[in-house]
Amino acid sequence: MSAKQHVLSVLEQNKGNNVSGAKLAQELSISRNAIWKAIKNLQLEGYNITAVPNKGYCLSEDNDILSNESIIPYLSDTIRPVNLEVRKSVTSTNTILKELASEGEAEGKVLIAEEQTGGRGRLGRNFYSPSRTGLYMSVLLRPKVTVEDSLYITTSAAVSVAKAIEKVTGCEAEIKWVNDIFCNGKKVCGILTEAGVDFEGGGLEYCIVGIGINVARPREDFPDDIKEIAGGIFEPNRYSSNLRSKLAAEILNYFWGYYSEFSKKAFIDEYRRRSFLIGKEINIISGDKLQNARALEIDENARLVVQLPDGEIKALSSGEISIRPK
Ligand code: BTN
Repeated sequence: MSAKQHVLSVLEQNKGNNVSGAKLAQELSISRNAIWKAIKNLQLEGYNITAVPNKGYCLSEDNDILSNESIIPYLSDTIRPVNLEVRKSVTSTNTILKELASEGEAEGKVLIAEEQTGGRGRLGRNFYSPSRTGLYMSVLLRPKVTVEDSLYITTSAAVSVAKAIEKVTGCEAEIKWVNDIFCNGKKVCGILTEAGVDFEGGGLEYCIVGIGINVARPREDFPDDIKEIAGGIFEPNRYSSNLRSKLAAEILNYFWGYYSEFSKKAFIDEYRRRSFLIGKEINIISGDKLQNARALEIDENARLVVQLPDGEIKALSSGEISIRPK
């Protein structure tokens, strides 16, 4: 760890409080001059650190820059160690992890970005990923599960995100089958899971779970094509900063918990409880075709059971649904 990372780590753990330069220098066994240089560099990177003579350095409570140092304190001790990396701007965290996976990167690599310039969504769509107001995160797994069971990885991720949102922000989070998270009737999170199949072994070579969250509605608002459906967990003026690091950590805490006992499928009941399509009149969308149906239930395999207008009942394991206005 560099002196700058050490200093940041101590300041993050004492956020809002003064830490004396002498104490920092002693704890990290470096000179006070080296501490001062590290502080200057952090300030240049945008960290809001005040230096008060005889009191020390203080990282402002509302500082909201994502970093390993800001996230790691919130990771639970019991989760397996994750190999966390935070970057300022990337094309797509999923695309980069896919490249790393094919170069042999181990399970547990987590890539988080402040901003994505080519964020990708399901069905070949873009995912709007501006800086500051969102959280964009991908997790690399090498699961020893069948291709069928791997579908539940997304299910467990959706439940993890919903629970983390509720724990960190207090906002009620519901799941729109298959894996969109809604708060106050707006989509605040989408999940894109991509996998490499091991044709010989019949399982997965790797799996990447990409999670994109709109933590706050962007000040410049969402682009026109998603304005109606997308929402932030918070409006911009209600957003208290310093939440994204906690949110990232809590998602990982819940997710690793489920993943480490994957065969128990402990997340299914929670997934069903949070699903809000049940009882609604819906459209099943395939390409440019719409089919009317009524959503009956989420079954024990997380499939959406629907009734078609002719009375036929079927269970969908993937697809896209919209709710029909009454
Ligand atoms: C969707 O709603 O269609 C899924 C959106 C998934 C977005 C996340 S953001 C992190 C990861 N990187 C990407 O390019 N996409 C996923």
